[in-house]
Amino acid sequence: MFSDTHGADIYSAAEKSGINKDEIIDFSSNINPLGIPERVKKSAIDSIENAIKYPDINCRELIKSISVAENVPEGWIFAGNGAADAIYRISFYIKPKRGIVTSPAFSEYENSLTAVGSIIEYYNLIEENDYKIQDDFIDYINSETELVFLCNPNNPTGQITNKGIIEKIIARCNELGTYVVIDECFLDFVENKEEYSAVNLLEKYNNLIILKAFTKIYAIPGIRLGYCMSSNKDVLEGLKVIGPPWNVSNIAQAAGIAALKEKAYVNETVGYIKLQREYLIQELSKLDIKIYESYANYLLLKIYDEINLKEELVKKGILIRSCSNYRGLGRNFYRIAVKSAEENKLLIKALKELKGKQ
Ligand SMILES: Cc1ncc(COP(=O)(O)O)c(C=O)c1O
Repeated sequence: MFSDTHGADIYSAAEKSGINKDEIIDFSSNINPLGIPERVKKSAIDSIENAIKYPDINCRELIKSISVAENVPEGWIFAGNGAADAIYRISFYIKPKRGIVTSPAFSEYENSLTAVGSIIEYYNLIEENDYKIQDDFIDYINSETELVFLCNPNNPTGQITNKGIIEKIIARCNELGTYVVIDECFLDFVENKEEYSAVNLLEKYNNLIILKAFTKIYAIPGIRLGYCMSSNKDVLEGLKVIGPPWNVSNIAQAAGIAALKEKAYVNETVGYIKLQREYLIQELSKLDIKIYESYANYLLLKIYDEINLKEELVKKGILIRSCSNYRGLGRNFYRIAVKSAEENKLLIKALKELKGKQ
């Protein structure tokens, strides 16, 4: 069995609580609350007809669509079975002697580095700095560092790193021949994302790899589709041969092509998340819960009482992410997704009941 280290595990929550998995409201995974766009759903369903054939091993049409959407050449794009596939391929291809990750961060950076025997160094994001990366990150990079993973906005903190610091890190790594992965899987939820995205640095720095997912913004975690971009041809070729071919199904390719036409849906999402995040912050702050600044579609929380909030809420059919297994956070930290207005109200109601504030 895979260990229960991620959010989204409605299956274990159902086993433990006896509640039907389809009745659990999942605040533990950060998926667009507007749901799968109808045209994406239809494309995925229609593509079943093609399941009798192997998918295009080179994802030609999908890569063409990503190239237009991102304004980068087709030859800079690798499509993966979710962003997680790309993360593992990157670590397996680079096999870094030494890798740097922030603490806390999405655990698969660390797991993939462990799988290839890297020495892992942690850059601690600290509460006093609002979990923001500081200029001293540069001091952690040395001639033995071969790979750096950064997440922008970071999961689970929701905090963003400004482009000035990002470019300084990439430039320093470039001098030392170190690869940098910037995971922008949640950037599509951020207002004015162009201000933060490193995509326009790809041409200047061929040590840079940018990671994106369809999973979160188009609400298709079950389809498995992500990609990465780099101007480094060796990296792109390396990622293809380090793992199995046909890693992106017909269904995923069709869904991805349709998704990239959904510009209005993405814009609507950004506005909706902003409103609902503000609602949650306002209501949670009345409940003696500390909420950290977030640019993303999730919030990091700290509670001051001794209860196990995840276990208490599961009894009410609500699953949240305990952050106790994130390096650098403790058992009183939790992450919640920003979901639909109706679901967010149910969460607040459940929390009020637990706190005895009806
Ligand atoms: C920051 C971050 N990057 C990548 C991934 C993996 O995404 P995917 O489901 O597309 O593999 C996740 C999943 O939770 C994530 O939180």
